[in-house]
Amino acid sequence: MEDPKLPHYDHQPKSYSGPAIETVMDLRKRFLAPSLLTYYKKPMMIVEGSMQYVYDEKGRRYLDAFGGIVTISVGHSHPYVLQKVREQLETLQHTTTIYLHPAIAEYAEMLAAKMPGNLRVCYFVNSGSEANDLALLMARLYTGNFDVIALRNAYHGGSAATMGLTAHSTWKYNYPHSFGIHHAIAPDPYRGYWGRDDPQAGAKYAADVQNLIAYATSGRVAAFFAESIQGVGGAVVYPDGYLKNAFAYVREAGGVCISDEVQTGFGRTGSHYWGFETQGVIPDIVTLAKGIGNGLPLGAVVTTPEIARALTQRIHFNTFGGNPVSCAAGKAVLEVIDREKYQENCRVMGDRIKKGLFKIQSKYEIIGEVRGEGLMLGVELVKDRSTKEPAGTAAAEIFESAKDLGLLIGKGGLGGNVLRIKPPMCMTAADADFMIDVLDAAFRPY
Ligand SMILES: Cc1ncc(COP(=O)(O)O)c(C=O)c1O
Repeated sequence: MEDPKLPHYDHQPKSYSGPAIETVMDLRKRFLAPSLLTYYKKPMMIVEGSMQYVYDEKGRRYLDAFGGIVTISVGHSHPYVLQKVREQLETLQHTTTIYLHPAIAEYAEMLAAKMPGNLRVCYFVNSGSEANDLALLMARLYTGNFDVIALRNAYHGGSAATMGLTAHSTWKYNYPHSFGIHHAIAPDPYRGYWGRDDPQAGAKYAADVQNLIAYATSGRVAAFFAESIQGVGGAVVYPDGYLKNAFAYVREAGGVCISDEVQTGFGRTGSHYWGFETQGVIPDIVTLAKGIGNGLPLGAVVTTPEIARALTQRIHFNTFGGNPVSCAAGKAVLEVIDREKYQENCRVMGDRIKKGLFKIQSKYEIIGEVRGEGLMLGVELVKDRSTKEPAGTAAAEIFESAKDLGLLIGKGGLGGNVLRIKPPMCMTAADADFMIDVLDAAFRPY
């Protein structure tokens, strides 16, 4: 059978004249921290990108269905984002917030306008970990409480504080980091106690938040942290009503509710601009990163004026936060998403891919569940559909074969057994069909 063919794309990659892949590997081994991870048996070197595609050093094109870990939102080197960044770079690169600059002020107004309720004060940082660190600080200062509820199977970052919020042994070092943080049961209808067939599942999982507050804390908490869909944990979509109930318990105990939208924001879920809207809630603090800057280092905390005021007890400073170049990128990303109707594209493409994945699932027993919203999708592989034993080795093989056939995807879940599909929001129907053909071929041995 012939290999699936990538859709035609009119872009000629530059011919690569840099060091050989072996040299880069050697330099990396000698001069970079050994904890850095590479994907694939033979690591790939990516030297160019254009919209939903990337190119290796030999000029081979791949469909990038992982977007630099859900970070390329509107497309690699999107021309409008590039133009705005270039204009800003050529005019003024950096000053910090000790001086006024229009980019940060105008961008804050644009970003706040996308938020519901009273979420209208922005604080810019450089990454998701920084955004979550700051949200944690704000919540503790504002409430005067210390204890925090987060979820098992969550990923909120790798800084000292956010490692505490994260609940995956894979990402937690053996050193003190979780003081005051308590992890509630993951509201995972596939692996958890209550499934998608139980209309009360959301309320039942949320009751664990209430229990945790009653048993593990003084009864007063600072915050509840949750991704709107768990990303690194394997695209886990909570049952309806989960966040609504959990938020109510947390607010009753004096806490604020924090939505980590680092992966789910900016229309990726298709049906809504923000992931938390899929659960019908409005958080008190929202944290953003990754897709917000389409690859530029940018993160943000958006909250209410009352909560933001808590930080005025001292001066909080972040050298690069609100940098004019990152803000120019952020503004351009917001404009592009609206102009190109990328949220709608996420919905349509997500439905198309899911339909294809369900067809594949009907052929291969190894697929336990296909799930997700818009272009935030997961395919969970199990050795046996009744025991749900994670099929991590098979997932790694399929992931490898997909790459050989020209498709880059991600992996997640504690057992590394969930294939993660989170392409740039500009992907097309032809890309979706290619992706399904590749995955169908990659699953064939199973
Ligand atoms: C949901 C979520 N929150 C926070 C982070 C941390 O972001 P960063 O790596 O930019 O610090 C990540 C990173 O993968 C994430 O997926």
